[in-house]
Amino acid sequence: MNSPSYYNQLLDITHSRNILVTGGAGYIGSHTVHRLAQRGYDVTVVDDLSRGYRHNVDAARLRELNLADTPALEKLLAEKPFSAVIHFAAYIAVGESMVKPELHFSNNLGGSLSLLSAMTRAGVRRLVFSSTAAVYGTPETSPVTEQMPHAPVSPYGESKVMVERILGWFDGIHQLRSIALRYFNASGADPASGLGEEHDPETHLIPLLLRAVLTGQPITLFGTDYDTPDGTCIRDYVHVADLAEAHVLALEALLAGSASDAFNVGTGRGHSVREVIRAVEEVTGRAVPVRVGPRREGDPPVLVACSDKLRRALGWKPRYEDLREIVATAWEFEKSRRPG
Ligand SMILES: NC(=O)c1ccc[n+]([C@@H]2O[C@H](COP(=O)([O-])OP(=O)(O)OC[C@H]3O[C@@H](n4cnc5c(N)ncnc54)[C@H](O)[C@@H]3O)[C@@H](O)[C@H]2O)c1
Repeated sequence: MNSPSYYNQLLDITHSRNILVTGGAGYIGSHTVHRLAQRGYDVTVVDDLSRGYRHNVDAARLRELNLADTPALEKLLAEKPFSAVIHFAAYIAVGESMVKPELHFSNNLGGSLSLLSAMTRAGVRRLVFSSTAAVYGTPETSPVTEQMPHAPVSPYGESKVMVERILGWFDGIHQLRSIALRYFNASGADPASGLGEEHDPETHLIPLLLRAVLTGQPITLFGTDYDTPDGTCIRDYVHVADLAEAHVLALEALLAGSASDAFNVGTGRGHSVREVIRAVEEVTGRAVPVRVGPRREGDPPVLVACSDKLRRALGWKPRYEDLREIVATAWEFEKSRRPG
């Protein structure tokens, strides 16, 4: 692969700045739209607002559409010369997928297939895809490299593996080039732009800890007997602004002619649940009310990314490497949601 600066030089010559972002009213999508707009891209967002928020997107950008509506997507893609799509739209709750696999397969797999069909017919042949560490399931070793086998332990993870495999076929048959970004634990916020994490129900640790601090309602710690230094699970928390930057780099690589590929996106640093609790207590200056519960099925003890490939190939480097800084941005956002 060539250097990112080489890609940047080629970009303006060969491509329109029109980018379609699916799921841009959600958490990571909205932060990425913000970054793309800062970089001078003309962004259109497709979102059905089933899990996202109108307040996350400029009204002029938003097309309220479900991905299953292939003809509407095709029509939209024909409106102007889109050079690429960044595809976030999906249902993301692993627990929900264990109860309603049909919902996750139809939305995540069906929605992606509909999008790919519309793109193929409209002649749009560049895609950045939101994949996940969940494709690796319960990896035997850490840090996790892209070469490790796909062994998802939930319909959610399986739906992402299936889309990654389908992308391989669309590359071979339709020359649709794609980059799959496998994120580890997305976290933090960009409160200056009014954006942050608002999943409903929320299942992610940092916002749950911050809400426990604000409400006084204890949070359950799932398992304290793992084979880790303090007995709690270790995860790799990557700031949402760094994820957004990874998408811009992947997009620009594709526009400059990069081949299809897949990259892990994580900081490479692991933090245990107890370490995150300590960071939250330091940042907020308040104690987190905690109750200890049993392990949850399917939670690997340690999940930390090796993102050397992304750093090397696309020049990505996380700006947020200190967990307390990540927590501080999330805390600013949480406080802004509850004025007074
Ligand atoms: N949040 C994480 O930690 C994490 C980690 C790994 C991967 N991911 C992936 O990143 C992507 C974004 O995650 P997020 O946390 O921003 O989720 P989110 O729920 O905040 O955003 C998803 C957005 O997609 C929209 N959407 C869903 N299905 C749609 C459909 N059929 N048609 C149109 N819009 C639809 C929702 O309304 C929502 O705005 C997802 O694909 C997810 O699987 C997230």
